Amino acid sequence: MTITRRQMMAGASAMALLPSLANAQQQSMVLEARIGEVQLVEGDYPKTKIWGFNGGVPGPEIRLAQGARVQRRLLNNLPQATAIHWHGLRIDNAMDGVPGLTQDVVPVGQDFTYDFTPPDAGTFWYHAHNQSTEQVARGLFGVLVVEEDQAPEVDHDITVIVDDWRLTEQAQISANFDAPHDWTHGGRIGNYIDARLMPDITAVQQNQRLRLRFVNVATDRIMQLAVFGLDGHVVALDGMPLLQPETAKPLVLAPAQRVDLIVDVTEASGGQAGIALRDRDQWVILKQFTVTGSQGTAPRDKVTALPPNPVARLTDVVGAQNVALKMEGGAMGGLRQGVYQGQLMDTQELVGNGQIWTFNGVAGMSDAPLAEVGKGEVLRIPIQNETVFPHAMHMHGNHFQEVLPDGSFGPLRDTLLVQRGETREIAFVAENPGDWLLHCHMLSHQAAGMKTWIKVNT
Ligand code: C2O
Ligand code: CU
Repeated sequence: MTITRRQMMAGASAMALLPSLANAQQQSMVLEARIGEVQLVEGDYPKTKIWGFNGGVPGPEIRLAQGARVQRRLLNNLPQATAIHWHGLRIDNAMDGVPGLTQDVVPVGQDFTYDFTPPDAGTFWYHAHNQSTEQVARGLFGVLVVEEDQAPEVDHDITVIVDDWRLTEQAQISANFDAPHDWTHGGRIGNYIDARLMPDITAVQQNQRLRLRFVNVATDRIMQLAVFGLDGHVVALDGMPLLQPETAKPLVLAPAQRVDLIVDVTEASGGQAGIALRDRDQWVILKQFTVTGSQGTAPRDKVTALPPNPVARLTDVVGAQNVALKMEGGAMGGLRQGVYQGQLMDTQELVGNGQIWTFNGVAGMSDAPLAEVGKGEVLRIPIQNETVFPHAMHMHGNHFQEVLPDGSFGPLRDTLLVQRGETREIAFVAENPGDWLLHCHMLSHQAAGMKTWIKVNT
């Protein structure tokens, strides 16, 4: 990999805005959603006005031991109603944070207490789930890490939050959250990409071992990332351990996806190691650390698999309920009509309602779920992408596996990138009762129609 350009835009390396609160006792029980101001872009730029949890971007990192309980009182001091979704956590449906499906929206000035115990260890995140094209773009997100009982030994455990901002020349967030061109194409793509590290280390030593927890919090941009001066393995996807660690090739992260790496610093003292992003045909450095000194010379132990989470993996899908999901619409998609709020509309009427994408002919939420399944049953969903854009399909409350063409099952995930023209089948054991959203995590697409839900009976 070559790095031909040092920085993508002025000040591409960003800063840590909040100290990482490693000690659970110090963590506040309140998540106040409010307006804040942060130095997003370094240099002579003014501070950026954001919306953030506790006024920061990202919000406080929530870290806990596997089996511990999370209680957070969301206090809404935004100019808009909101709610928090705990992305990738297989928790009680009532805590899932989807207004209109699992809870009422939290109005301005009011609060809601989230209280749950995540079953799985891993890298997760939380974000606003109301008017999310605007609220997530303005900064309402944070990371939630559940630590394994037997965590792998590393010298640094670092969360890497990769984001895509659309900023004005004064480094303020562009307020065109519902630009029709974005919604009908690849979504809101920004002009300033940053990677923030928590904790924000600046130096490492040769032979040190790092755990890097990548989270793509962008509303719509797919990130292609790589590490340099570091070598190692992917150990988890979307919070779930891989059965076998895999070599860390360039990583593709669709919006909302996570990848956990365990890497060793291979660069010698005096050199640089870090994280790079592919921008069209060039690799640009997002973040780098100086290698200072060396920690022994012996090679480290082999990277082994993380301890498994208590989640059911597929054993077979024979006889399972099979419900196809066909995605249509968008620019150049040739969509002629779709049902919106129970009414059949032509494309012009749909667009008049801010809708342009359909799942099985329906834009937006339907009264009936896409599928209804009993607890413990297996549901298969072949996802057929008939549009000319990629989509990042996210299932709430359940991880799924891909049914691969040879009949084997892919890794557990909560978000799957489905390229244009592809059909990819997902399946899962419905373990978690409730009404679960299934949507495209390109938030512009979600807002413009790409969402449905499934019902898991008790
Ligand atoms: Cu990250 Cu509907 O969620
Ligand atoms: Cu999409």
